[in-house]
Amino acid sequence: MQILSVNLGERSYPIYIGAGILPRVGELLAQAGLRGKVAVVSNPTVAKFYFDPVDQALRQAGFEALPIFIRDGEEHKNLTSLQTIYDRLIGARLERKSCVLALGGGVIGDLAGFAAATYLRGVPYVQVPTTLLAQVDSSVGGKTGVNHAGGKNLIGAFYQPKLVLIDVAVLKTLPRRELIAGLAEVIKYGVIEDPTLFARLEAQMDKLIELDNDLLIETIATSCAIKGKVVEADEREEDYRAVLNFGHTVGHALEAVTGYTEYLHGEAVGVGMVKAAALSRQQGFMDGNDFDRILQLIRKAGLPTEIPESVSLSDLIQAMEVDKKAAGGKIKFVMCNGLGKTKFHWLATSEILAALSA
Ligand SMILES: NC(=O)c1ccc[n+]([C@@H]2O[C@H](COP(=O)([O-])OP(=O)(O)OC[C@H]3O[C@@H](n4cnc5c(N)ncnc54)[C@H](O)[C@@H]3O)[C@@H](O)[C@H]2O)c1
Ligand SMILES: [Zn+2]
Repeated sequence: MQILSVNLGERSYPIYIGAGILPRVGELLAQAGLRGKVAVVSNPTVAKFYFDPVDQALRQAGFEALPIFIRDGEEHKNLTSLQTIYDRLIGARLERKSCVLALGGGVIGDLAGFAAATYLRGVPYVQVPTTLLAQVDSSVGGKTGVNHAGGKNLIGAFYQPKLVLIDVAVLKTLPRRELIAGLAEVIKYGVIEDPTLFARLEAQMDKLIELDNDLLIETIATSCAIKGKVVEADEREEDYRAVLNFGHTVGHALEAVTGYTEYLHGEAVGVGMVKAAALSRQQGFMDGNDFDRILQLIRKAGLPTEIPESVSLSDLIQAMEVDKKAAGGKIKFVMCNGLGKTKFHWLATSEILAALSA
C-alpha cells in the first residue's frame, strides 16, 4: 500500500492507495480518530458490489454503517438528493463526531462531501472513490457541491476529507468507457506537470487499460501527488489551481453544446487537450513534436481527438465565453509551455477559431 499526504496544516489528510484494501476501511477510519456511526453514501450500481465489504469492515472495527443510496447519474447530483441525505442524517441522529463516507464516483463524492460540509456546520468525511476519474481527481482537493438548473457545480464548498482510500481492485467492475474517460485526467497531469509520467503512459498505456495492479497503483499515486501539490499551493483556486483546467475550456464547451449527453467528461477533455495543445503550438509555446506526442497518446488511450462536424465552432466559442466569463473578447486558456510546463494566456476568439478550424 502506498501512503501519500496532502499537507494543508490542520486540514491535512492521508491518501491510501493499494489493491484489495477496501476491507481495511474500518481500521483506517479508526486510526484517523473517527468513531460511531458512518453514513455510507453510495448508489445502487456501486453498492451492489462494494457496500457489503465496506459494511463488514466497518462493523469489525466497531463502527455502525448507515446506508444512504442515491439514484445513479449526474442528474441526481442535485439539491433533491442532498435533501434526501440530510433527512437520513437527521433521522438517524448523526452527531458531530460521526462521519460521512462517499462510496462511488465523482457524483457521489461531490454530493456526500457537500452534505458533510454543511450538516451540523461540518462533520468529517471520507472518500472511497470507485471510478478512475474520482481516484485521480475528484476525491482529492476538497471541491464539493451539486448542480443547479442554472449550471453545473454552482452550489458547493471547499471542504477537505479526513482520508482518501483508493482500492484499484474496484476498477475491475467499472465500464471500460468510464475507465478510458478517467485516463484523460491522468494524461493531463503528464502534460501539465510530469514528462516522466507522460513517457510512462506512452510506453504502458495498453497494460494500464488491462488494469495491471502495480501500474495502476503507481500511476494513480503519481496523479494524486500532482493534484495534491497543486491544491497545497492554491487550495481555493485563487489562480494556480486553474492549471488543472488544461483541456477543459474546449472540453466543457463541447459537453455543453452537445447537451451533456454525448460525451463523458473525460472524452470531451480528450478533444479539449488536443485543441489546447494546437493553440499552444499556434502561439509558439510548444513545438510540433510535443504536439504530436500529445495527440498520439490521447488517441492511444482510445479517447476522441476531434470536434465532430455536427458541432458548430461558433456555438462552441459562445459556450466558452459564457463558461469563462470572457473579458473584452478574450478567453483565458491554460497553455502547454512544452511538456510538463504551463502558462496562462489570453486569446482572442479569432485566434481560437483559427486553431479549432485547422
Ligand atoms: N470535486 C472535484 O474536484 C471534481 C473533479 C472532477 C469531476 N468532478 C465531478 O465528478 C463527477 C463525475 O464523476 P465520475 O466520472 O466518477 O462519474 P460517476 O460518479 O457518475 O460514475 C460513473 C458511472 O460509473 C459507475 N461506477 C462507479 N464506480 C463503479 C465501479 N467500481 N464499478 C462499476 N460501476 C461503477 C457509477 O455508478 C456511474 O454510473 C461530475 O459530477 C464532476 O462534476 C468533481
Ligand atoms: Zn476534468
